[in-house]
Amino acid sequence: MSIQQSFNYSHFLTQKLEQLKTEGNYRYFLEVNKSARHFPAFYFTDTNGKQQHAVNWCSNDYLGMSTHEEVISKMGFVAHNSGTGSGGTRNISGTTNYHKILEAVLAKWHKKETALLFNGAYQANVTTLQTLGKNIPGLVILSDEKNHASIIEGIRGCKNDKKIFRHNDLQHLEELLAAIEGNKPKLIVFESVYSMSGTIAPVKEIVALAKKYNALTYIDEVHGVGLYGNTGAGILEQENLQSDIDIVNGTLSKAIGVFGGYIAASNTLIDFVRSFGSGFIFTTSLPPAVCAAATKSIQLIQEETIIRTSFFNNVLQLRQQFSNNNIPFIPNNSHITILPVKGADECRKLANVLLLAHGIYLQPINFPTVPSGEECLRIIITAKHLPKHINHLAYSLKKIIHGNNPTNRQELEAVVAAD
Ligand SMILES: Cc1ncc(COP(=O)(O)O)c(C=O)c1O
Repeated sequence: MSIQQSFNYSHFLTQKLEQLKTEGNYRYFLEVNKSARHFPAFYFTDTNGKQQHAVNWCSNDYLGMSTHEEVISKMGFVAHNSGTGSGGTRNISGTTNYHKILEAVLAKWHKKETALLFNGAYQANVTTLQTLGKNIPGLVILSDEKNHASIIEGIRGCKNDKKIFRHNDLQHLEELLAAIEGNKPKLIVFESVYSMSGTIAPVKEIVALAKKYNALTYIDEVHGVGLYGNTGAGILEQENLQSDIDIVNGTLSKAIGVFGGYIAASNTLIDFVRSFGSGFIFTTSLPPAVCAAATKSIQLIQEETIIRTSFFNNVLQLRQQFSNNNIPFIPNNSHITILPVKGADECRKLANVLLLAHGIYLQPINFPTVPSGEECLRIIITAKHLPKHINHLAYSLKKIIHGNNPTNRQELEAVVAAD
């Protein structure tokens, strides 16, 4: 009798990881030791154990709200009063007045009847899409090909008929809608600002198609919330389309600078997700102090418009400097600046030189975040970057891209300081 050869789990996993490394797609995490006082500057320990300083150019803390004194104080104050964790799911002792107040603030901001908190926009996307998909019989889901991993995960997790439309391609979307027979229910899922390309969706036209074909609409405003529109509610506010979209998804972790995610929609829709969504029901709720800090941050974003003005001024300054110095970037109407660098290896090497020789932290964006061949450096400026930071980045990139590559950091800093 032969003994079945046993499966070597460790060997299998190691092989898969080696393959990732060979393809240049293995992920290395830099320890970004953040300082509330000095953001976007931080320190890290290099491979020789030496402490180095760098400037963060890839944080999604767009407005620097995570370092705002009033947000920090609110979080500390409520943590002292209410304790750290909530200690329960929303249904079992995990709902406080801080949760209710934040949901009311979010609903009002997005001009919706109600909002529902999650522990992240990722979880909000997965849970909401799966809850709708699994419970609405015959629902056909139409999804933009560039949608975020959480949206893909959400729709992959239900057995519904799925149709993927080419990025921002209205003609393709209409072709797919028109081909769905009968009176089948439909859901169009898309983002307002696409995080990896910085493109903005033609929301008005998508809304028109949704109305024509009687489809529900779901928008991920994760990179729009806190930034666009009169009060910072997002692209929908900017385009005056808030009442035209059925479900809005947002995050509390990027422009708002705290943690968590949410959806905002009609009372019935929210009640449905609240009642049937496993990823909402069976998880501990956000800590009360987190909710209070997020509420404070939103209030500040709404009132102190100067924060958003400085942010968008910085985006303009950065692009102006890039143009002046012949640094290539892909034009778009958003705040996300994409510097294309073909090849995962090239991209990683450029990021390494920038970090170690120039003190500039930019994360290379590789497969699977973007398709192979579309590798890039995704540059995020925040409201906290100063003119000297912009000069430093433009100068360093120019030197690397257009020759004379100085790797001597003191020499570089002296030149930048003299600018
Ligand atoms: C477009 C988009 N949707 C959703 C998410 C998930 O957001 P969160 O970090 O709040 O889970 C991200 C985050 O990176 C994102 O870029």
